[in-house]
Amino acid sequence: MANTKNRKPYVICHMMGSLDGRIKQNIWNLKGHPNYFEETAEKIKTDGWLVGRVTMQEFSSKRNHVKKGSKVRIPKEDFVAPYKAKTFCIAIDPSGKCQWDTNMVTTEHVIEVLTEKVSSAYLEHLRSKNVSYIFGGKKELDLALVLEKLNKLFNIKKLRIDGGGHVNGSFLKAGLIDEFSLVLAPVADGTIGSPTVFEAEEGYGKRKATWFRLKSVKRVYTNFLWLRYVKK
Ligand SMILES: NC(=O)c1ccc[n+]([C@@H]2O[C@H](COP(=O)([O-])OP(=O)(O)OC[C@H]3O[C@@H](n4cnc5c(N)ncnc54)[C@H](OP(=O)(O)O)[C@@H]3O)[C@@H](O)[C@H]2O)c1
Repeated sequence: MANTKNRKPYVICHMMGSLDGRIKQNIWNLKGHPNYFEETAEKIKTDGWLVGRVTMQEFSSKRNHVKKGSKVRIPKEDFVAPYKAKTFCIAIDPSGKCQWDTNMVTTEHVIEVLTEKVSSAYLEHLRSKNVSYIFGGKKELDLALVLEKLNKLFNIKKLRIDGGGHVNGSFLKAGLIDEFSLVLAPVADGTIGSPTVFEAEEGYGKRKATWFRLKSVKRVYTNFLWLRYVKK
């Protein structure tokens, strides 16, 4: 049942980072260990999780479903597909690069967050798979508007943002993160250019860094720390 009032969901960003803040685990050799990220994430109960296009492409289809030369014209309006799921997974995908075999990732209903740059052929693909989509702007995303729509159309009151660094950085820069949850892995990565927990802006402009207040610290998996912060 959708809300009548527009409200921003409470936003918790959850990540696993190396000691030097990096998030790509290519050289961490974590194989054979528990799912540090997933196990801790599951303990933060939310109505859904949201990731950037790069991260979502790890979960979406590897096939091409978009029909070339399609003459269909579909208006750039939000689309709420039929769904039974109680929770959602949301892709920040401004140009419509993620394609779908189904409208579910495990138990979550898929919602694509788009700009009006996307083609009708792409919208036709999403509709054919009953994937929901919302528009967050003409060419650029207004993330506050995106959160309002997620609340209004899907009744999402609490949302986990699960990376990657660019999506986290965008929400941080927009001042939309209420809590930050970091699983700190006892590993130094050192890869120059690899994404870090928050990728907000190149160089130093007028932006000020964001401070948090420590909420809890827990030692997990012997040598890891699970740090939880709230916005100051
Ligand atoms: N360690 C962890 O806990 C963890 C968690 C999640 C992911 N990861 C890793 O992080 C890596 C990916 O991170 P990433 O930072 O490269 O990518 P990402 O944040 O997953 O995705 C970035 C993309 O999302 C879109 N996007 C994000 N913010 C936007 C905004 N404000 N406006 C418009 N578009 C926006 C853009 O898509 P377009 O390029 O299509 O415009 C952008 O290139 C992967 O290796 C993944 O495995 C690690």
